[in-house]
Amino acid sequence: MKLAEDALKDEGFAASTYHRIAELLGGSLEEKLFKMAWVEERHANFWREFLRRRGVVPKSAVSRVRVVLYVAAAKMLGVGLTLRLLEAGERGAVELYSRILEHGELTEHERRVLEEIVEDELLHEDELMREEPRF
Ligand SMILES: [Fe+2]
Repeated sequence: MKLAEDALKDEGFAASTYHRIAELLGGSLEEKLFKMAWVEERHANFWREFLRRRGVVPKSAVSRVRVVLYVAAAKMLGVGLTLRLLEAGERGAVELYSRILEHGELTEHERRVLEEIVEDELLHEDELMREEPRF
């Protein structure tokens, strides 16, 4: 349950930061990052429902301070390094979900959805990596 709560927090954070960074970077990256933000929001919903089904009322508070600090860091780092930072986040999500898939108690359906989520994260990582050489 702790892992699921962490996952919800991370996805909420990812959705907010992608959104902010999309606005920050603009240009050709904007649409792509907005789309990623939307996918992360869907992931957050999966965890919200996951916790609800287990009688846990999800606290969906995304740490504003953490988002603001992260976006400030992104401003200083420039586009290339910011993309690297986001990539690292995606990799972290894949690691966490691999652990949950291995040890967590999931229904068959949840397992299938979580596997799709892992695919989304890998796709994001790949997309971010492909953008990088342009900056
Ligand atoms: Fe995600």
